[in-house]
Amino acid sequence: MKDHEIKSLHGNRIRSPKRSLCRTIFTSPLFYLTLAFLAFFAGYYTATSNPFPSSSAAAAAATNNINFPSRLASATAAMTLPPEIDNFRVAPNCIDPIPTDLIRETILTRVYGGASPFDNFPPPHVANSLRHRSLKGWGSKGAVFRHLIEEVRPKIIIEVGTFLGASAVHMATLTRQLGLDDTLILCIDDFRGWPGFREQFQFINHINGDVMLLYQFMQNVVYSNVTDSVLPLPFSTGSTLSRLCQWGVTADLIEIDAGHEFNSAWSDINRAFRLLRPGGVMFGHDYFRMGDNRGVRRAVNLFAQIYGLRVQTDGEHWVIHTS
Ligand SMILES: C[S@@+](CC[C@H](N)C(=O)[O-])C[C@H]1O[C@@H](n2cnc3c(N)ncnc32)[C@H](O)[C@@H]1O
Repeated sequence: MKDHEIKSLHGNRIRSPKRSLCRTIFTSPLFYLTLAFLAFFAGYYTATSNPFPSSSAAAAAATNNINFPSRLASATAAMTLPPEIDNFRVAPNCIDPIPTDLIRETILTRVYGGASPFDNFPPPHVANSLRHRSLKGWGSKGAVFRHLIEEVRPKIIIEVGTFLGASAVHMATLTRQLGLDDTLILCIDDFRGWPGFREQFQFINHINGDVMLLYQFMQNVVYSNVTDSVLPLPFSTGSTLSRLCQWGVTADLIEIDAGHEFNSAWSDINRAFRLLRPGGVMFGHDYFRMGDNRGVRRAVNLFAQIYGLRVQTDGEHWVIHTS
């Protein structure tokens, strides 16, 4: 029996024009092409949000379809985020900035129960594990620090990625040399290092797997006599930057130098930018580093492209001004 023939109730073979037409349609490649086309557009138009916001926004930015402001002038630099990139939202509960002179007290109260973490330092159980001073860093005394501190004369600096405090101590020393005695440097770092880092830094002891990095950093700050200028925030960068936004803590100068692969750098840059005051400057290390698949550089460039900002370089560092 041919395909387009069916049997009648009595078993006689009869032709069905309707069946024949269906058969023609369903075996046509054009039919399946059209179906795929319709399915694609149905899905596209009924989607409530784009599951890949960064790539679509990047593509849109790359084709100049989004007008990002090049000058951001509101309570904090990022409060004028255009709605097109709402999917980049990282800290929805930011409050208005609190006065600068309340920031130290706010951190001490919220993080340390009102006392200074340097009180009674070092605790007896780690005292014998610490070196008097050990300030290994990477590009931690680059000219960019002096250039930006002279230019911005910051009251609040946030450092995202501190390690042993080489760059933090250097910035504290610079601010004092410039007569900026009240400048506060908030150092965000989980002070865990990274898996295997003790192969390079064996002098940093650990007690039952608890590495003494925070304590050695604090010892370096004490030894350098800059405890009035430096406060550690010993948590992950993501959670801390978000929380600072919710506490209304903002900064004039922010250094990004924590995780160097793209996703870490991208997250830190996006979160930190929300904390920058108008006229503030964000900068970071390793713009030219080949390791991590140029993660820092890709994150910085994408961010600047989306916001219509200009990336400048100073030695090994990248610099982005808000104005
Ligand atoms: C390159 S070191 C910072 C060096 C320092 N800026 C200097 O020049 O002396 C990077 C630091 O970022 C910290 N870090 C990396 N990812 C982090 C994260 N997600 N949260 C908190 N700290 C992180 C590491 O513990 C490490 O101490």
